[in-house]
Amino acid sequence: MLYIGVDLGTSAVKLLLMDEEGNIKNIVSKEYPLFFPHPGWSEQHPEDWFEKSVEGIKELTEGFDRGEVAGISFGGQMHGLVALDGSDHVIRPAILWNDGRTGEETDYLNEVIGKDKLSEYTANIAFAGFTAPKILWMKKHEPENFEKIAKIMLPKDYLAYKLSGSFCTDVSDASGMLLMDVENRRWSAEMLNVCGISEEQLPKLYESYEVVGTLRKEVAEELGLRAEVKVIAGAGDNAAAAVGTGTVGDGMCNISLGTSGTIFISSRKFGVDEHNALHSFAHADGNYHLMGCMLSAASCNKWWAEDILKTKDYAAEQEGIRALGENNVFYLPYLMGERSPHNDPRARAMFIGMSMDTTREDMTQAVLEGVAFGLRDSLEVARSLGVNIERTKICGGGAKSPLWKKIIANVMNMKVDVIESEEGPALGGAMLAAVGCGEYPDVETIARKIVRVVDTVEPEPDLVEKYEEKYSRFKKIYPTVKGLYQ
Ligand code: XUL
Repeated sequence: MLYIGVDLGTSAVKLLLMDEEGNIKNIVSKEYPLFFPHPGWSEQHPEDWFEKSVEGIKELTEGFDRGEVAGISFGGQMHGLVALDGSDHVIRPAILWNDGRTGEETDYLNEVIGKDKLSEYTANIAFAGFTAPKILWMKKHEPENFEKIAKIMLPKDYLAYKLSGSFCTDVSDASGMLLMDVENRRWSAEMLNVCGISEEQLPKLYESYEVVGTLRKEVAEELGLRAEVKVIAGAGDNAAAAVGTGTVGDGMCNISLGTSGTIFISSRKFGVDEHNALHSFAHADGNYHLMGCMLSAASCNKWWAEDILKTKDYAAEQEGIRALGENNVFYLPYLMGERSPHNDPRARAMFIGMSMDTTREDMTQAVLEGVAFGLRDSLEVARSLGVNIERTKICGGGAKSPLWKKIIANVMNMKVDVIESEEGPALGGAMLAAVGCGEYPDVETIARKIVRVVDTVEPEPDLVEKYEEKYSRFKKIYPTVKGLYQ
């Protein structure tokens, strides 16, 4: 049988076709626009997601026996607010995970409702990108739109709804709404009350590997697939990526270098850190995870290469970089503000430390290092909780760069295991579909069976030491410059 994994990303939707043995048969990617209507705002049209996914699925399955497709599932960009009216029309463009407009609402939730209460209700505090502050923003700034809301959903849930007609979400993605009681995997009545919404406006909660329905007849016809094809709930893209890299069960780690950068630690036990600096979310394997998320990771490199240096040749740009651990230029990766651990939507990116002999290569290197230092900030929080991680998997577009993987291994002082495919969320989506269709009994079994580590990047003691010193300097920059942009 064949399974389709849909990775609904921020710059594109990636679709992956996998057979029951875990062999990747085809991958297709379709881009759509991202809008920044004001500095720090970030929006997309859900209709674009669906249109490109349909186009993508048709292209993905062309030349294959479409009758063999048994299930479809997703890894979706998290936290985005998609609101439909009573006639199922999208009310306004989706407000995305890296949108920083909700500074005031986030402060209200953390300071007036209070972090202790939020943590008690949901296991998390408010971050600007989370869904609940966006609902409050809409209530205040667009009351006419807020009044029209019949259904609230997350980005990938819009795809599941259009494909199957099922108004559903999954526990990993719903964890990032700040509306769910994560430990008990159910909606929080207290948080619904705080946001002025009712449970009827929210989707039904499923585990990520559960079947939510089958294809609507007309959609099946359009796609050339059988109407019996099962639609499986899927997961937030980080949880799906964790499945795709085999980061399941207890104490495993995955780093994702996509538009965002995340460090994801799987756990069989529910846990919350004292300051809620890391997100405490449900995992797609039925367990839990801790996660730190930086808002701009591979997107820093894309911005620097494509928008500033006007090149798409990333490899050539990195070729001249030799002196790892020697760079005096630092880069703060806060192009969209920062989530973990600073929780500061007003933070901004900067280069610091240039001199007359600074080269283009030094600045490119500073960008790659700045992202690694940002991830290290979240790792430090995990280490302070006594979580001891010696190795990590890696996925996402940034994981294609051998140099970036080496920098990460040494800045983090961790072994970096490279998986056969860096398509974490799309592969994870296809794997969840296979579990949902009964091909495998559970997520851990399929991960053990099909995820293959093909290489390991080892940290080098000399370089680790050099980066330790650089990181101690990096850490001092943000507190020093923070006041400039408040
Ligand atoms: C995670 C987060 C991002 C998005 C990216 O909390 O906001 O990783 O999911 O798509």
